[in-house]
Amino acid sequence: MPGLFDPFSLKNVTLRNRIVTSPMCQYSAQDGVANEWHSAHLAGLARGGAGLVVIEATGVSPEGRITPACLGLWNDAQAEALAPIVAEMRKAGAVAGIQIGHAGRKASANLPWEGDDHIAVGDPRGWETIAPSAVAQGGGLWRVPRSMTLAEIERVRGDFVAAAERARDIGMQWLKLHFAHGYLAQSFLSRHANKRDDAYGGSFENRARFLIETLVAVRKVWPEDRPLSARLGVIEYDGQDEETLAEAIELVKRLKAEGLDFIDVSLGFSTNEAKIPWGPAFLAPVAERVRRESGLPASTSWYISQPEQADALVREGKVDLVTLGRPLLADPHWPYAAAKALGIEDAAWKTLPAPYAHWLSRYRAV
Ligand SMILES: Cc1cc2nc3c(=O)[nH]c(=O)nc-3n(C[C@H](O)[C@H](O)[C@H](O)COP(=O)(O)O)c2cc1C
Repeated sequence: MPGLFDPFSLKNVTLRNRIVTSPMCQYSAQDGVANEWHSAHLAGLARGGAGLVVIEATGVSPEGRITPACLGLWNDAQAEALAPIVAEMRKAGAVAGIQIGHAGRKASANLPWEGDDHIAVGDPRGWETIAPSAVAQGGGLWRVPRSMTLAEIERVRGDFVAAAERARDIGMQWLKLHFAHGYLAQSFLSRHANKRDDAYGGSFENRARFLIETLVAVRKVWPEDRPLSARLGVIEYDGQDEETLAEAIELVKRLKAEGLDFIDVSLGFSTNEAKIPWGPAFLAPVAERVRRESGLPASTSWYISQPEQADALVREGKVDLVTLGRPLLADPHWPYAAAKALGIEDAAWKTLPAPYAHWLSRYRAV
């Protein structure tokens, strides 16, 4: 079995190792447009040595952003601002990816460090939220969304397609659909959030419809030789886990049949009543099951921070890639430190750009 520092190929894309920088919102954009912050942040992560760097959840429409400071990809100015950043990421040896999504009933939120709750009604920074049904997430996310019309469902599907086309045209190599974390797509699938009685609600077939139709529509414009992935919340930890997981695995199989290439296994976050058993790599056994039963290559994240553990998850065939978030915020050069800790000297300096590698490959502590 390969290890953490073996390359991974999918379609026409090869990752230099099996470390993925998980998408992480920076809440630092204006009008959805990337700026110097995103450039430094993403180039830094790419230079840090991860095989794949995935840009944060990027709204496919203005009302699909989580906060007013989230990135967007619904107009050309946003694509033009991202293009040089993508080029820089690729120059650093990373595969450049982006997560596109719609925040649904969780949209219109204050920045995490300014409350993480919904923006007050009447505050001009906020907007009306839309979702499958007029059911609020709850807690600080108290806004009751407007139930989407069929025309709006079609429009948002089209927004995903248009964002995918823009991502394709600026050289993005890996596309990740945001089907997780209680945002719009996940809320269509979720019995907690979806109370519709039309073709998009009720049965599993109906609740899965928006996700499958979106994947099918995006696949038509996303190049066949570039990986199309999705991040799906496959479990809620709400006491109905076997049923939720079985449905999620069935959905992944159907998405695979329609052209999905890779699945990133995550949490549903569709109810505030969940009891999530946080712990080191706690989702790995779930990811292994999704991978085994769906036959798709898979990754997972959440509290994977130790090099030995990350390497073991890959070597044991639980996942194909490990997806790291906070450990890479703490140290974008985590891959270098991990290779050193695993005693793979050759891999360690290969994670670095030449102006660093030249020196560090010769460096010995005295
Ligand atoms: C600052 C921050 C922003 C995040 N933004 C996103 C996001 O845009 N999309 C997403 O799917 N997950 C997002 N997440 C979740 C991470 O991608 C990751 O799955 C999570 O942090 C667990 O991995 P970790 O334990 O390695 O941090 C975010 C997490 C953090 C810390």
